[in-house]
Amino acid sequence: PRDPLVVFTPSGKRGRFPMGTPILTAARQLGVDLDSVCGGRGICSKCQITPMYGDFPKHGVTVTESALSPWNAVEERYKSKRGLIDGRRLGCQAAVQGDVVVDVPPESQVHKQVVRKRAEAREIVMDPATRLYYVEVVEPDMHNPRGDLERLMDALKHQWGLEGLTCDLRALQVLQPVLREGKWQITVAIHFGHRRSTGRIIHAWPGFHEGSIYGIAVDVGSTTIACHLCDLQSGDVLASSGLMNPQIRFGEDLMSRVSYSMMHPGGHREMTAAVREALNTLIGQVAEEAGVARELIVEGVLVGNPVMHHLLLGIDPVELGGAPFALATSDAITLWSAELDLRMHPGARLYILPCIAGHVGADAAAVALSESPHQQDELMLVVDVGTNAEILLGNRKHVLACSSPTGPAFEGAQISSGQRAAPGAIERVRIDPATREPRFRVIGCELWSNELGFAEAVGTGVTGICGSGIIEVIAEMRLAGIIDEDGAIGSAEAVGSERLIQEGRTWSYVLWDGRPEGGPLISVTQNDVRAIQLAKAALYAGARLLMDQMGVESVDRVVLAGAFGAHISPLHAMVLGMIPDCPLDKVSSAGNAAGTGSRIALLNSGARREIEAVVREIEKVETAVEPRFQEHFINAMAVPHKTAGFPNLE
Ligand code: FES
Repeated sequence: PRDPLVVFTPSGKRGRFPMGTPILTAARQLGVDLDSVCGGRGICSKCQITPMYGDFPKHGVTVTESALSPWNAVEERYKSKRGLIDGRRLGCQAAVQGDVVVDVPPESQVHKQVVRKRAEAREIVMDPATRLYYVEVVEPDMHNPRGDLERLMDALKHQWGLEGLTCDLRALQVLQPVLREGKWQITVAIHFGHRRSTGRIIHAWPGFHEGSIYGIAVDVGSTTIACHLCDLQSGDVLASSGLMNPQIRFGEDLMSRVSYSMMHPGGHREMTAAVREALNTLIGQVAEEAGVARELIVEGVLVGNPVMHHLLLGIDPVELGGAPFALATSDAITLWSAELDLRMHPGARLYILPCIAGHVGADAAAVALSESPHQQDELMLVVDVGTNAEILLGNRKHVLACSSPTGPAFEGAQISSGQRAAPGAIERVRIDPATREPRFRVIGCELWSNELGFAEAVGTGVTGICGSGIIEVIAEMRLAGIIDEDGAIGSAEAVGSERLIQEGRTWSYVLWDGRPEGGPLISVTQNDVRAIQLAKAALYAGARLLMDQMGVESVDRVVLAGAFGAHISPLHAMVLGMIPDCPLDKVSSAGNAAGTGSRIALLNSGARREIEAVVREIEKVETAVEPRFQEHFINAMAVPHKTAGFPNLE
C-alpha cells in the first residue's frame, strides 16, 4: 500500500509520508511555512494546525477521524496546562496515520502576513531578522572539555541546522548561569545579518522563553519623532507614541540646526544628546503602554532626513550646510543600541535605512519602501509632508527624488494655534460658504463641533490645530471667499462674518472661542496663512522641479504622506495648491509613510535588501542649487497657483 497523502492548506502543497511522520516534519520537507520555536518538543505551540475531516474531492482524499495519531502525553499535557483551541493539534506531535488535509492557520506561519492598516500601500510579510530558538544542550563532563558555548553551537547545528553563528559578549557573559538555571535547556535570540549565514546570538533565557521579543520602528522627524513598538513574532503594533523633537530649541528647521552646530563648537553633541534622550523617553512610553520590559526590545529600525540621521549618529552635520552636501555615509548602517545610548536590550541591533543623497535621507528611502513607486506602471508622485518635504516621482522605469524646505508649518509649528496631532487638536474643518460658519472635528472625538453634545464631549478640551487641520481650514477659507488668491484675509465687512476679528492691521478668522470656559481662542491669523503659503509653495515647487526633470506636465497618481496624525484630505491639498493637478480619485493619503517604511524594514529583513538596491537607482535632484526652483516657488505662492490650472477642481 502507498504511504498516506498529506495535503496542506492554504498552500496546496502535498506529498506522501510514511505512517508515523509528524505533521511538522512533513511540513518542513514540503517547504510549508509552519512555525516552531521549540523544535518539535511540544512546548511552544507555534506549530498548531487544524486537521480537516470528510470528503475533499478537490484534493482527491477522504479523511477519517483516525487520519492522525491519537493525542500523546506531550500534547495532552500541553492542552491541560495551556489549553488549545478546539479542533487544533500540535503539528509536532500529531503524526500521519492515513490521508489527511491539514490547515495551517495564519498565526502558525512564520512568514505570516501582517494585518494591513488603513491606507498602507503594500503587504508586510513577516521575515524578522531576529528569531527565537529553543535548544537542549549536552551537559559538560570530565571527558568533554569543550566550552558551554561550543556545546550550544553544536546543539543549534544539530537541532536547527544553524551554522557559522557567533555570540555577542553580553550573551556569553550570562550563558553559563542561564544554561544551569535552565537545566541545559535554553532559548536564544539570534539576529541574522543580511546574509542568513551571519547569525549572532544576542540573548539567552533559561528554559523556554514564554514571551515574545520586540522591536521599535522610529521616524525621527525634524519636528516630530514617532515610534511604534512591534511584536517580532506576530508583527502586531502594540503601542505607538510621538514627541516633539527637543532639538527644536536649537533651531526650528534643519538649516538653523546646522548653523547652530557651525556657530557653537560641540553644539552638535548637545543636539545628539537631546534626540537620544527623546528616543529613550519614547521607548519608555511604548514599552510601558504595551507592558513590555525594555530589555525585550531586541531590534530597532530608524529613519530620518540626513541632518537628523547625522545628529542621531553623533556626526557633525556641518557638511550638509552647503554644496555639495556631502553625507558622512549614504549606506545603510547596522549598529548596537548601546552605541546610541538607547535604553533597550543592550545588544539590540539597530538598522538605519540608507540615505538617497545630500538632502534626501533615510526617511525618503522609507517612504520609497512603503509606497513603492519603483513597482508602479503609472507615474506616481509621493510627497511626504514634514518640516522638510521628501518628494519622489517615478515608476518602474525610473524614480527621481528631492527634498524641499517647507518649514514646520504643516506640523503645526509657526502657526498661532498650531500643535502636534494629539487629542484636543482640530484635525478636520468645514466652512459653510454661505454663512462662513465653521464646523470641525477634534482628535479623540467622533463628533463634529455642530453636533449635539460636542461642547460637553470636548468643549473646553479643544487645544489647537494640527497639520491636517491647518491645511483644511485654509483651503476652506479660500473656498468660502474668506481669503483671496493672494492669501489675504478679508475684513469683517468685506466677508460679512463676525468670525473675523481685527488684530493690528490684519484680520483673523475665529474657529473656536473657548475663553469663557477658560480655554484658548483658536483662530487663523494672516501670519498663519502666510506660513502655510510659503510651505505649500516650497512643496509644489519641489514636485514641479521633478516633473521638469522627468519631462512631464502631469502625473497619474499622487500620494500624500505625513507624520501629523490625521490623513490629509486630497481635495483640500489641491485647493491649497500643495500638489499639482490630478484626478481627485487618484490622490490618496498614506499617513506616516516614513514610519510605515521603517516598520516594514523592521518586520521583513528582505525589505532591507530591497530598499538598499532601490536607493542605488534613485536619481537625486538638488532643489537648493536649481534656479527654476525659485521661479516655481514664486508662482506657487498664490492659492492655488498663479499660472498652473487645476481642471480637476472644476
Ligand atoms: Fe513547539 Fe510543536 S513545535 S510545540
